[in-house]
Amino acid sequence: MECPAAAQGVAPAHGLRYTAAMMRLHNRRYLVTGAARGLGLAIATRLVAEGARVMLADVLTEGEARAAELGEAAAFIHCDVTSREQIEAAITATVERWGGLDGLINNAGIAPRGDILTETPQQFDRVIATNLTAAFHATQLAAPHLIAAGGGVIVNMSSVNAVLTIPALLAYNVAKGGLNQLTKNTAIALAPHNIRVVGIGPGTILTELAKNAVMADDAARHQILSRTPMGRAGEPEEIAAIAAFLLSDDASYITGETIYADGGRLGLNYTVPVGE
Ligand SMILES: NC(=O)c1ccc[n+]([C@@H]2O[C@H](COP(=O)([O-])OP(=O)(O)OC[C@H]3O[C@@H](n4cnc5c(N)ncnc54)[C@H](O)[C@@H]3O)[C@@H](O)[C@H]2O)c1
Repeated sequence: MECPAAAQGVAPAHGLRYTAAMMRLHNRRYLVTGAARGLGLAIATRLVAEGARVMLADVLTEGEARAAELGEAAAFIHCDVTSREQIEAAITATVERWGGLDGLINNAGIAPRGDILTETPQQFDRVIATNLTAAFHATQLAAPHLIAAGGGVIVNMSSVNAVLTIPALLAYNVAKGGLNQLTKNTAIALAPHNIRVVGIGPGTILTELAKNAVMADDAARHQILSRTPMGRAGEPEEIAAIAAFLLSDDASYITGETIYADGGRLGLNYTVPVGE
């Protein structure tokens, strides 16, 4: 399967080149939530490049066109992850389409602003439902299929905001912190079934979410980069590469961990200088 982005080594901004994708996921079957754009789409693209068959799930119907661009190894299903029924339908569709399930990537997420003095109960509930409760439902509903396949891997998309905090992202912080506990808890519970559960904790990655939430203006950008020792935001492909590694047998002894890809932010106390 030809997949230009990952297979040929993307050369995004900053002159980076990525290692050409291997075929570590040949014929494996995955469901990726929030896959119409951003990190989810980058992950789906990388998984297809590594030989997998992938169901892209999203509320955005543009996911249909993105799946078509990835070719026969990809398909799309409309799915709102705040609905347990729609998650179940997406898992069923994946199993029917590809003949089983080898892994799940709980990636869909939202990050609207609101601190403890301004957050509405409705928005708080919506953020928790999208970023945390959805992963509980999907994990519970996918597990029997993974057990039937002899094992599998679940990847939860966390954030540095699981352990650091931004007052204006109250619900998001709480959801991602909870997601890390879901990762640890379910990793232990599912280990006897040959299922690994792992997390990825990105710093600031250049997707729509990041552009709108934190890179919207120069002051915000300056603030972000002053907390990023590597001096740049990350690229979606750099997160997709971690997802492919964690899903592959190269990560066969890793479970319960969240891997942070943050340009050095978590190790930094105070700030670093920012160039123009
Ligand atoms: N971009 C970053 O800097 C960054 C950093 C840390 C963590 N993350 C996490 O990565 C994940 C993906 O973020 P992104 O940056 O690609 O954002 P994005 O906004 O570009 O993409 C998120 C996708 O999730 C989908 N989605 C939202 N609500 C949904 C719902 N109810 N049901 C189904 N799909 C839904 C959106 O339609 C969108 O396609 C999120 O969980 C986010 O919290 C991102």
